Amino acid sequence: MTTLLHVKSSIFGEEGKSAQLAAAFIAQWKVANPDGEVVERDLVNEPVPHLDGARVMALMAAAEERTVEQQMIVDQSDELIAELVNADQIIMGVPMYNFAVPSQMKAYFDLLARAGVTFRYTENGPVGLIDDKPVYLFATRGGLYKESGIDFQIPFVKQFLNFIGLEQVEVIYAEGLSMGDTAEQSFAKAADQITAIN
Ligand SMILES: Cc1cc2nc3c(=O)[nH]c(=O)nc-3n(C[C@H](O)[C@H](O)[C@H](O)COP(=O)(O)O)c2cc1C
Repeated sequence: MTTLLHVKSSIFGEEGKSAQLAAAFIAQWKVANPDGEVVERDLVNEPVPHLDGARVMALMAAAEERTVEQQMIVDQSDELIAELVNADQIIMGVPMYNFAVPSQMKAYFDLLARAGVTFRYTENGPVGLIDDKPVYLFATRGGLYKESGIDFQIPFVKQFLNFIGLEQVEVIYAEGLSMGDTAEQSFAKAADQITAIN
C-alpha cells in the first residue's frame, strides 16, 4: 500500500496556512492514490518530549544494557523513525515562528537523529541511513526570506533531512503572509505549485 506521512507543526491546527497547503496536497494525493494511507504525525497535539540528558543517554545506551525507562524512550524514537522508513512520500508543514521551525519540530528532529540508525559517520563523513524518497515542505512565513541570506529555517530543515538520507526535498513557499495583498498572491502561487506536483 502506498503511504504518505504527514508531519504537522502549525500551532493553529487546521487553520494554519501550512496545514491548509498540506490539506490541498492530501486531497489531490488521495485521488491519485485511492488505496493509499495517510499517516499523521501531529507534533502540536501530541508533542514529542524535548531532548534532555536522560533521553540522550537512553538513545546512546547499548540495546542489551537499557533500563525499562530507557527502552520506552528508544521505543518512541523507533516509532517516529519507522514512520519515515515506511512512508513512500512525506509532507511537512513548516511554519516560521521567530525565525525558526516550531520548537515541536525541533524536538521531533532531536528524536530522529540516531547514530547507527538514521545516520552513521564514515571516513568520508556522515552518511544518511533512511532510504531516499520525495519530501515536500510547506514553508509558511509572514515575511520574505527565501534566498535572502537570512533564512535560517528551511536551510536547517533541508540539512537535517539530507543528513539522515532524505535528499529529494522540494520546498513550496508561501511567504509574505503578513504583507497585505502579497499574502493572497503568495498563497495562491503555493497552491498552484501543489496542483502541479501530483
Ligand atoms: C509566534 C509567531 C512567531 C512568528 N515569527 C515569524 C517570523 O520570525 N518571521 C516571519 O516571517 N513570520 C513569523 N510569523 C508569522 C508566521 O510565519 C505566519 O503566520 C505563518 O502563516 C505561520 O504558519 P502556519 O499558519 O502554518 O502556522 C510568526 C507567527 C507567530 C504566531
